[in-house]
Amino acid sequence: MFRKITTLVATAAVSAMIFAGSALAAPITIKFSHVVAENTPKGIAANKFRDLVAERMPDKVVVEVFPSSQLFDDDQVLQAMQLGDVQLAAPALSKFGRYTKQLDLYDLPFLFKDMNAVEKFQKSDKGMELLKSLESKGFVGLGYLHNGLKQLSSNKALRVPGDAAGQKFRIMTSDVLAAQFQAVNAIPLKKPFSEVFTLLQTKAIDGQENTWSNIYSQKYHEVQPYITESNHGVLDYMVITSTEFWNGLPDDVRTEVKKALDEAITYGNQIAGDKDTEARAKVVESKRSEIIELTPEERAQWVEAMKPVWKQFEDTIGKDMIDAAYAANN
Ligand code: LMR
Repeated sequence: MFRKITTLVATAAVSAMIFAGSALAAPITIKFSHVVAENTPKGIAANKFRDLVAERMPDKVVVEVFPSSQLFDDDQVLQAMQLGDVQLAAPALSKFGRYTKQLDLYDLPFLFKDMNAVEKFQKSDKGMELLKSLESKGFVGLGYLHNGLKQLSSNKALRVPGDAAGQKFRIMTSDVLAAQFQAVNAIPLKKPFSEVFTLLQTKAIDGQENTWSNIYSQKYHEVQPYITESNHGVLDYMVITSTEFWNGLPDDVRTEVKKALDEAITYGNQIAGDKDTEARAKVVESKRSEIIELTPEERAQWVEAMKPVWKQFEDTIGKDMIDAAYAANN
């Protein structure tokens, strides 16, 4: 009898331990690393994803967001992802050159007339095909996230392409962007985002290209007296993870995480336009920088000078791809 009770007690204790063990199983951690400020379209979308996951699966998954290059710069993050040090990132489409040349498409100057055209193309079959362009390298493209169209800032008023000649511009790590500046006889320098403010402030470079939300949140307007509203190219992102991490998630968790991410991306893409307008207004209000609005004739000169870049990259990007993207303007 005594032995029976002891066995029962022991069995109950083991069951309790197993139960407690499974209830206390550590949640899966998803580290989301990015380089911009929190109050930008990408920063807001990343935090939204973290909050949705916290609300819906608090015991299963924890999302930790690291903004402002706190964890990695964009040129380190993909390697870190392959090593399992970070699970999510959303680098600009201009930063995947080491892995694929297909995404070069997005850097062609004056390809898209506005963000509606960008959105339309990304949702098309060809746009979805590009989302898969990193699969052979061990990455899963989970969605496109918007920022907006880029403007040119400089320590000199840039009205026509000749004004940029001889100037040093910081660019993202894209050969197309290098060619774009070379087309106007300027000098492109590939530098990490985290270094741009100091490079501008110390006058190690003359100018840069970026969206209004990045210009405002990084305070470039405080160290750049002129911003030309050129809208000459798009700055968008691909939200990615590693195939190994993604496939290793339990099916139900992967489905829920993807749902939360889709919602966060949709939200980020909805507010990107407003953030752009708001940041531009704040730059105007600051009176630190003069905004140069191009006349149609001046703008046509930039288009004419930079458009030959399309031909230069036609073989690697594919003419059918360029035509499909351009057609999204209609
Ligand atoms: C840049 O390097 O200028 C951008 O990629 C930063 C960003 O993520 O918006």
